[in-house]
Amino acid sequence: MRELALNILDIAENSLAAGAKLVEIEVSADFAADTMAISVRDDGKGMSKEMLATVCDPFTTTRTTRKVGMGLPLFKYSAESAGGSFHIESEEGKGTFVRATYRIGHVDRMPLGDFGGVALQLVTMNPNTDFVISAKCGEGEGVLDTRQVREILGEDIPFGAPEVRAFLKEYIKENLTDILGGRL
Ligand SMILES: Nc1ncnc2c1ncn2[C@@H]1O[C@H](COP(=O)(O)OP(=O)(O)O)[C@@H](O)[C@H]1O
Ligand SMILES: [Mg+2]
Repeated sequence: MRELALNILDIAENSLAAGAKLVEIEVSADFAADTMAISVRDDGKGMSKEMLATVCDPFTTTRTTRKVGMGLPLFKYSAESAGGSFHIESEEGKGTFVRATYRIGHVDRMPLGDFGGVALQLVTMNPNTDFVISAKCGEGEGVLDTRQVREILGEDIPFGAPEVRAFLKEYIKENLTDILGGRL
């Protein structure tokens, strides 16, 4: 994976697979401190303590006990190989929280990539899930909350409809991508 945005997509897909009704994604950057953070929180089915203990290291378990996934291990690696840290907490029946931090200027930090495209894809392809996607950078802060969009549009107008998609694309550019300013 060469883009952190693809890690975000993978982690959000875990949330969707866990039946989340609300997925909150945040990308924040502090250029003065040379740090950035990515977090994903969901209200899905969560994980058992046993699962949580092994989920970031697929090689500690055997293929017969579960499918060996790489989404979480790769996300963890992306942070730890870029001077950052990784944190995951999960509770069965409650949800999961994943957070990765990075040194922005670290030579091995992957670029953020097409975060706006990932945001657009998530909200348009998953009509039954709400998303709160936010970007924070210094003084700048923007958020896309699909619950608010639904309130404005009404329940009947699908996010995938061409004019809504066009609106969301522009909204994401102004409120998420431009906030981060292409510097990540
Ligand atoms: N947000 C989540 N909620 C519940 N379970 C999760 C979540 N994220 C990951 N998991 C569990 O951890 C496993 C490993 O996730 P991952 O590393 O992304 O690999 P994969 O998705 O390919 O299985 C998933 O199959 C799932 O059982
Ligand atoms: Mg996954």
